[in-house]
Amino acid sequence: MGERLEEVVLEMRRITSADLPLIEQVSTHLLQIRGKMFRPTLSLLASETADAPQDRVVTMAAVLELMHLASLVHDDSVDHSAMRRGLPTVNSLFSHQVSVIMGDFLYSRALEALVSLGDLDLLRVLTAVSTQLTIGEMRQLAAVDALAFSEHDYEMLIKAKTASLLGAACETGAMCGAAQYRDVLRHYGERLGMAFQVADDILDYTETASTTGKPSGLDLKEHKVTLPLIAALPRLSPAARKTVDALFATETPTDDQVGEVVAIVATAGGIDAARRRGEHFAREAEEALDTLPDTPARAALTDAISYVMDRRS
Ligand code: IPE
Ligand code: IPE
Ligand code: MG
Ligand code: MG
Repeated sequence: MGERLEEVVLEMRRITSADLPLIEQVSTHLLQIRGKMFRPTLSLLASETADAPQDRVVTMAAVLELMHLASLVHDDSVDHSAMRRGLPTVNSLFSHQVSVIMGDFLYSRALEALVSLGDLDLLRVLTAVSTQLTIGEMRQLAAVDALAFSEHDYEMLIKAKTASLLGAACETGAMCGAAQYRDVLRHYGERLGMAFQVADDILDYTETASTTGKPSGLDLKEHKVTLPLIAALPRLSPAARKTVDALFATETPTDDQVGEVVAIVATAGGIDAARRRGEHFAREAEEALDTLPDTPARAALTDAISYVMDRRS
C-alpha cells in the first residue's frame, strides 16, 4: 500500500506539471505537504477487495486526490482561511485570483487524466461528483438565515460536499478490480464520508490549529452552522442564545466571542450529540462491509472507520 501511494504522488506531479512558472510555483507549494491521502487510500483498498486490482487504479487515485485538492484550494478562498496543512493557503500566499484559477487548473488536469483512461463509466461517476462538490459549497453560501439551518439541511450539505467524493473514491476503486462490489463500496464510502465531515466539524470546535494544521473556530467566525451548534441550539438558555445570536449578528466575530460560543455549545452537549450522530454513520459504514469477502483490504477498510472517528487532524 505504501509503495502504491508513492506511485500516486508521482502520478499527481505528472498530471499537474505545466510549462508556466506561476502554475509550477503554486503546484510545488501545494504538493510539498501531503495531506492524509485518505481518498487515494480508500480507492486503492477498494480495488483490492476482490482478486484482481488493475494498475490504472493509480491514475484513478491521483485524479481523486487532485479533485480533492482543487476543492480545498477553492474552499480556503471561499472560507477566507489562512492556513492549510500547517502552511499558508494559496489565497493568503498568492491571491484569491490565483486560487480561483489554480483550482480550475487542478480540476481540469484531473479530468484530462481521467479521459486518458478511456472509460466513460469512470468519467460519469467523477463528473457527477464534481457537480455535487460545487453544489455543496454553494448550498453552504446560500444559507441566508444561518441559525435556521436544520440537521436535515446539514446532512444534505455534507453529503454533497464531502461524502459524495469518498463514495466515489470507493466506487471507482472498485471499478478498477472489484466491479461486483461497486455499489456496496460506494455506500460504505458515502456513510464513512458523512462520519468524516461530522468529525471534521467537531475538530473545528475542539482542536487547536497546531494539531489540525488549519485554523480552529473558523466555522463560527465564518458564520458556518455545523452539527455541534445545530444540536445545541434547542437546549440553550435565553442568555446563552443571546450570546450566539450576537455572534451571528457581528460581521467579524472576535476570538473571545468564538471562544464563548464554543464553550456554550460544549456545555449544552452539542459536541457529544454530534459525536453520537457520527457514530451512527460509522456503524452504517461498518454494516456495508458485511457483504464483502474476508480479505486484508476489507480489514483495512474496517480500520479506516475507527481512524475517522479517532482522528485529531
Ligand atoms: C479536508 O479534508 C476537507 C474535508 C472534507 C473536511 P481532509 O481532512 O482529508 O484534508 P487533507 O487532505 O488530509 O489535508
Ligand atoms: C469541507 O468543508 C470542504 C470541502 C469538501 C472542500 P470545510 O470547510 O469544513 O473543510 P476544512 O475544514 O476547510 O478542511
Ligand atoms: Mg473550509
Ligand atoms: Mg472544517
